[in-house]
Amino acid sequence: LTVAVLISGTGSNLRALLEATEEPAYPARVVVVGADREADGLDHAADYDIPSFTVQYAHFTDREQWGAELAAQLRVWNPDLIVLSGLMRLLPASVVAAWRGRIINTHPAYLPEFPGAHGVRDALAAGVAQTGASVILVDDGVDSGPILAQERVSVLPGDDEQSLHERIKLVERRLLIDVVRRVADGELDLAAASAPVPQPR
Ligand code: GRF
Repeated sequence: LTVAVLISGTGSNLRALLEATEEPAYPARVVVVGADREADGLDHAADYDIPSFTVQYAHFTDREQWGAELAAQLRVWNPDLIVLSGLMRLLPASVVAAWRGRIINTHPAYLPEFPGAHGVRDALAAGVAQTGASVILVDDGVDSGPILAQERVSVLPGDDEQSLHERIKLVERRLLIDVVRRVADGELDLAAASAPVPQPR
């Protein structure tokens, strides 16, 4: 299975996936890493001799234009699966439609709890004892797609956003590596997961 990973930040989850793909038995390969800015995480692609591209959001007048260039870059590699791993940008509907059922996203909360760009901060602010990590299929909403994997993560006394996020990322990485493996092995059928639930007649 060929995988494109899209990032905006440090790419620590990307790094974990790259390490997993080093296992000869792991059934997926990262073929390209893309970013919407000069993300530090692009260094991980370089470390693994994997091509990367940057489609700077700031260079485009709107999301659709940015998305069209992103899609053009992705079509060069035509990946089987796109993994959003810390991409802090909503994909335009045109990109979601072009790869419907083949884009997954990791989120540092127990969706549908705390969706959006500040899931860790929001969980802390809410004072919950447990938050979590989720891997979902990307649909046209914000962190609203079918849940493929998720696990609870405890909030510990004295946690701040950084310490809690680090603990969540450990779980996110394990879930992501497992979901990609299950998709590659055909255990997890994303098309079935993305099919709209048949409405009762
Ligand atoms: C991850 O927690 C991801 O779920 C969230 O942003 C974080 C990215 O971290 N969207 P990194 O760039 O992989 O270190």
